Amino acid sequence: MAELRRAVLTGVGTYLPERVVSNDEMAERVETSDEWITERSGIRQRHFAGPHESAAFMGAAAARGALEMAGVAGAAVGAIILATSTPDQSFPATAVHVQAALGAMNAFAFDLAAACSGFIYALSVADGMIRAGQVENVLVIGSEVYSRILNFADRGTCVLFGDGAGAVLLQARAVAADGPGILSTHLHADGTQAEILYVDGAVGQPDRPGHLVMNGREVFRQAVSLLAGAVSEALAANGLRAEDIDWLVPHQANRRIIEGVGRKIGIPPERVVVTLERHANTSAASIPLALGQAVGDGRIKPGQLVLLEALGGGLTWGSALVRM
Ligand code: UT7
Repeated sequence: MAELRRAVLTGVGTYLPERVVSNDEMAERVETSDEWITERSGIRQRHFAGPHESAAFMGAAAARGALEMAGVAGAAVGAIILATSTPDQSFPATAVHVQAALGAMNAFAFDLAAACSGFIYALSVADGMIRAGQVENVLVIGSEVYSRILNFADRGTCVLFGDGAGAVLLQARAVAADGPGILSTHLHADGTQAEILYVDGAVGQPDRPGHLVMNGREVFRQAVSLLAGAVSEALAANGLRAEDIDWLVPHQANRRIIEGVGRKIGIPPERVVVTLERHANTSAASIPLALGQAVGDGRIKPGQLVLLEALGGGLTWGSALVRM
C-alpha cells in the first residue's frame, strides 16, 4: 500500500499553575456559590498563575513534557506554533520565548490568535506545513493566563476560566492510509459574532489592557449546533460514523455544552474526555490539557481515533480528526 506523509502526534505535555482556587474561594470574591458554578458549568476548581507563571513559562513547561514523551531533543524541533490570547508581550511572540527556554534554536516560532479555538487552528496550520514538506517536527502549544484578563466584578464570567498550558509534538511520518496521524482539520470563523465574546481592550489601545466580556447565553446557544456541525464535517470527510470514534476530546468550556454536542452527534458520555472540573476553561490550552490527561491515564491508546472540537471568541470554531 502506498504510504502517505502525515503529522503524527508523538508526545503530549501539560502544565497547571501551582495555585488551585476552589469554587468556595471564588465565592469569597464574588456573589456566587459552589453549587451554582458546578450545576451550570461542571467546574469545581481552577488554577490561577503566580507572577512568574506567564504564557511562555507554562508553554515551555508543557512543551518539555511533550518532547520528553516523544524522546525528541529541542534542537530537532523545526517549528513552534503557540496559540494564545494572553501573550507575555504583544511582541515578540510568546513562541520565541518558548524557543529560547527549550534551546530549540533550529525552529521558527510564532503565535496564533483564535481564542478558545486556537489549539485546533494551530494544529491545522502545523498539519499543512508538515504535509507540504516544509518541516519535520512541530510543537503545537496552547498556553493561557486568563486570570490576567478576567473581570472579577463580573460573576457571570470570572468563575468560568482558569490558567494552564498544553502541548503536543507532531512529527512527519510516512504511514499507511490506516496508520496514525492527523486525518483532517476543519476551521471556521464568523466575525459578525465578534461582540458576543471578546476582550474590551488591547495593548495597542490607550489605557485599556482589557477584560473578557461574554454573552454566555448567546455563546451557549450557538456552540452546540456549530460544534456538532464541525464534528459531522470531520466524520463525513473521512467516511466515518460516530460509532467509529473512540474518544471525543472537546474544548473544556462547559459540561452542558460538551454533553449537548455528544448527544447531538451520538457519542455517549463514556467516550467523551471531560477534565474541566479540575481546571475550568483554559481557552487554547484546554484540549491539550484534556488530551494529556487521557493519554497519561491510559484511556487514549495508540491506534485509536480521536476527534477534537472547539469554539471560541470570533466566533471561531473547528474540529480535527486524529489517529493516535
Ligand atoms: O469557550 C467558550 C466560552 N464560553 C462558554 O463556555 C460560555 C457558554 N455559556 C454558559 O456556559 C452559560 O451561559 C453560563 C454558565 C455562562 C451561564 O449559565 P446560564 O444558565 O445561561 O445562566 P444565566 O446567564 O442565564 O444566568 C442565570 C442567573 C442570573 O440570575 P437571574 O437574572 O436569573 O436572577 C444570573 O445573574 O444566574 C445568575 N448568575 C450567577 N449566580 C451565581 C450568573 N453568574 C452567576 C454566578 N453565581 N457566578
